[in-house]
Amino acid sequence: MIKQKMLHEGKVKSIWTTDDPEICIAEFSDRITAGDGLKKAELPGKGVLLNKISSLLFARLAAAGVPSHFIWAIDDSSMLVKKAQLLPLEVVVRNRTAGSICRRLGLAPNLVIEPPLVEFYWKNDAFHDPLLTREHIAMLNLVSDEQYAEIVKQALAVNQVLTKVFAQAGLDLADFKLEFGLSQGQVLLIDEISPDSCRLWLAGTTQGLDKDRFRNDTGDVLEGYREVLKRLLATEK
Ligand code: TMP
Ligand code: ASP
Repeated sequence: MIKQKMLHEGKVKSIWTTDDPEICIAEFSDRITAGDGLKKAELPGKGVLLNKISSLLFARLAAAGVPSHFIWAIDDSSMLVKKAQLLPLEVVVRNRTAGSICRRLGLAPNLVIEPPLVEFYWKNDAFHDPLLTREHIAMLNLVSDEQYAEIVKQALAVNQVLTKVFAQAGLDLADFKLEFGLSQGQVLLIDEISPDSCRLWLAGTTQGLDKDRFRNDTGDVLEGYREVLKRLLATEK
């Protein structure tokens, strides 16, 4: 598969066209950002770790019957993906309180959220990705009622599978963010799933191995990501 032109350059990942119009290449960079890109750094080796973790998790989801755009990893830092039209939503699933929900609602961290909470944010840099109600989504015409229901269903299915996968690795999945696209008119899980977009805590603690280390300067980011990959690989044996 030949990389052709760059379709989109994101903060940490770029999407390339290929000689097949239905297939793209997603290439992970070594960049890391937080706070709407205000805090940024280059962490050599991060792209490879993200590609490995994301590929492994998408493969585990596929094996559990949850489809995504992932086809396979084609090299150390890139994966082959189905082409999809990005929906301008960030979908957050929360199993434990942490981060913005604590700040917004004055909640203590690490309270169990049962059933898990699904939140929608508008991917809109100018407005700092605001939280959306279902009514806002309808008013803005971002997705149809059917697509909304399908996204919630898929997000909860991802949560069920990944909670188990991470539990086997000795990690609690506190929360995570997903993105969805439309592929041949159908809602499809896209983007990446990694410690960049999940809160992963050592089981029974709030000790994070994820991007909170970068956001809050609480530890060696790559060491955390390497530990996540090591633990996930150990569950595959
Ligand atoms: P939050 O607590 O800041 O709302 O984040 C919830 C989860 O979503 C957390 O695992 C980090 C992830 N996330 C992203 O991946 N990208 C983002 O832009 C934001 C705001 C959160
Ligand atoms: N806000 C995102 C995060 O903290 C990243 C960014 O905006 O640069 O996960």
